Amino acid sequence: MIRRAGDFFLLQTPGTAYAFRVMETGHLEHLYYGAALGWTTETPEHQILSDCAALTEKRVFEPGNSIAYDREHKAVNLEDLRQEISSRGKGDIRDPFLEIRYPDGSVTSDFLFDSAEIRTGKTSMETLPGAWGTEADAEELTVTLKDRDLTLELCYSVFLDCDVICRRSRLYNGGDDPVTVERLMSAQLDLDTDGWELALFHGAWAREMDKHDVSVGTARVVNASVTGTSSNRNNPFVILHRPDAGESAGACYGFNLIYSGNHYTSAQANAYRKTRLLTGINPETFSWHLEPGQTLEAPEVVTAFSPGGFRGLSRILHHFVREHIVRGVWQHKPRPVLLNSWEAAYFDINETKLLRLARAARDVGVELFVMDDGWFADRSDDSRSLGDWDANPKKLPGGVAGLAKKVRELGLDFGIWIEPEMVNTDSDLYRAHPEWSMDIPGRPHSEGRNQRVLDLSNPEVVEHLIRRFTELLSSAEISYVKWDMNRIFSDVYSRYLPPDRQGETAHRYVMGLYRLMGALTERFPEILFEGCASGGNRFDLGILCYCPQIWASDNTDAVCRVHIQEGYSYGYPMNCVTSHVSACPNHQTLRETPLMTRFNVAAFGVLGYEMNLADLNRGELDEIRNEIALYKLWREVLQQGDFYRIQHGNIHKWICVSKDKRLAVGMMFQQMVWPNTQYENFRPVGLDENLRYRFYSLSYKFDIREFGDLVNTVAPIHIRQNSLVHNVLAKFVSLPAEVEDVTVSGSVLMKAGVKLAPAYGGTGFNEQTRYFQDFGSRLYFIEAVD
Ligand code: DGJ
Repeated sequence: MIRRAGDFFLLQTPGTAYAFRVMETGHLEHLYYGAALGWTTETPEHQILSDCAALTEKRVFEPGNSIAYDREHKAVNLEDLRQEISSRGKGDIRDPFLEIRYPDGSVTSDFLFDSAEIRTGKTSMETLPGAWGTEADAEELTVTLKDRDLTLELCYSVFLDCDVICRRSRLYNGGDDPVTVERLMSAQLDLDTDGWELALFHGAWAREMDKHDVSVGTARVVNASVTGTSSNRNNPFVILHRPDAGESAGACYGFNLIYSGNHYTSAQANAYRKTRLLTGINPETFSWHLEPGQTLEAPEVVTAFSPGGFRGLSRILHHFVREHIVRGVWQHKPRPVLLNSWEAAYFDINETKLLRLARAARDVGVELFVMDDGWFADRSDDSRSLGDWDANPKKLPGGVAGLAKKVRELGLDFGIWIEPEMVNTDSDLYRAHPEWSMDIPGRPHSEGRNQRVLDLSNPEVVEHLIRRFTELLSSAEISYVKWDMNRIFSDVYSRYLPPDRQGETAHRYVMGLYRLMGALTERFPEILFEGCASGGNRFDLGILCYCPQIWASDNTDAVCRVHIQEGYSYGYPMNCVTSHVSACPNHQTLRETPLMTRFNVAAFGVLGYEMNLADLNRGELDEIRNEIALYKLWREVLQQGDFYRIQHGNIHKWICVSKDKRLAVGMMFQQMVWPNTQYENFRPVGLDENLRYRFYSLSYKFDIREFGDLVNTVAPIHIRQNSLVHNVLAKFVSLPAEVEDVTVSGSVLMKAGVKLAPAYGGTGFNEQTRYFQDFGSRLYFIEAVD
């Protein structure tokens, strides 16, 4: 709901409210963002006016040695006013929302209210992707402010099916002279308290999304990227929360930009214990020449509030991303189980090898075969050929089309890897168009993975790529594309732009990327596009507007993956996070983990395989076959259900619950075995208290003495007619085991939990070692009984 009552504006989602007002001076005073305050479309206007009047800040004194806005408004001290947007020069000395350099060299702006418009539905942006909504589930408020000839639009999109408000801004130059925009943020939130913490998701290649909390004090906390990508160093998603917030309680604000380039979020308390959070394009690497008659759009930011802790916030964001970010035919369609050739063969691929792998994949139940890097031109390592997208005839005698046909004849879908944004200097494309790559003329270039970034700020480059990849994707029956991007920016420079506009390069690159992704995803709506940037170097909502899923990390080690996937789960639904079972010793960590754990962890993302199946023994292949069959039975719950973190530490517990709360899959994962620990229980969340559920597990045997090796065998515990797992269980060998199999009410399950059975009295060496071996895990299945 959006309402205007006098000078007050109210925005309300089912569980949150947001309010601001136009002051006498024309500034926008922020009044409130938090839990819903009970306003409805029926609330009489006089009540709203009196409620809101209580929220406005009462000021009567001139503000010490601070700046008074003007002679008529001596008590208006912008340094201590909660505002919807702020700028430099009129007394607000905090980090500003915008900064504009005028032709006379001054940087003082003062944007004041001009008009406002409320409409139903969700409008789109011209140059950037955004959330989407219909007339039925979204309303929009656009507030227009003016400073001389410049017009600033603030757009608030309120979603009626979840507690999300999207915000964005747009600057128009209606004057006769150009101005330089040094920063234009997407959203500002001024809170009237201090003592907040900012949860950041920090990392690096193969170590993505490590959550840590930083106290927000009077020194500015900044989460930013200058890599040209949203980056694995600092994901653009942040949570501003009370220090006592936990998984199930505590105030949490989530912010996530729908943007894939250099971003910036700052948080800082001022001298009056108010906290400001700003988020938008990183001003450090940005400067924009705004000509008369031109408009600059800042990316949309998703904001959400939950009084229910991190889990509550994740619930809101998961729903929002699924319903209002991801789009197209794959939005709710089951994602196929794939096998990717990368860790199976790296660059050393050819048709015979790939078909052998595809056949083995088909035999264990894989649905989609993906040919990764190494298939084109002279690509035998990472030093050449990016840019030349013709199949290598020695590796693929029948070309991509020939291989795709043969893979399809095996009964599998076919997918391909591409890296459109890059070029190797050893390539025909570079030789023909050296000026298309991003480097500084006359200066040596710093390399990243032996490749250079194509200058997507140049429309000619983008049009070339649209043509070239339209040809490629039309040339064969391709149903999946992995879109990779394997280096960060250095030597940022566009030959297309004049010297005084080089500050636009990074943002124009992102706009060019969106033009390219938009054109190809529109031209090939049936293809499932998966984003990738050396794993999770560009895991963000901008990419998710085009690619319903993203390769979350090049790290396929199950132990690391538990942490990485859990990190993503704070802000992203798990059906956006792809996860593969790979070989052991793991290629990134050299760690050995049970095959079953690799499956259990990967099954909570979108499941895939990335290993040479020919290296596996019959037992392992049988296990994989059974696990894939099990996954397919529970795929809808795992991919479309609601994911919750239940516990983390040495033992992690997760659960995924179907929308109707009748089915759920839980997981317990133990990092290291400790002897003589407490008995564990499993206390699900998200179920229906009033239903009765059967809670059971499939146990597995671990007997080092018998096999002389680590061998896991899935054993059926309970074969029950009409059970979802009945058919799969029938294929397993029966082994005696202590397992869970109880029927219990949702209320007991969620309030008290189920005491878990120890696994076979431990490892066999020490019966006090109760749960699995190191890196062991178990799935729990929960089915409502009629
Ligand atoms: C990086 C990706 O993250 C990998 O999965 C793989 O596709 C390689 N690039 C191929 O070069």
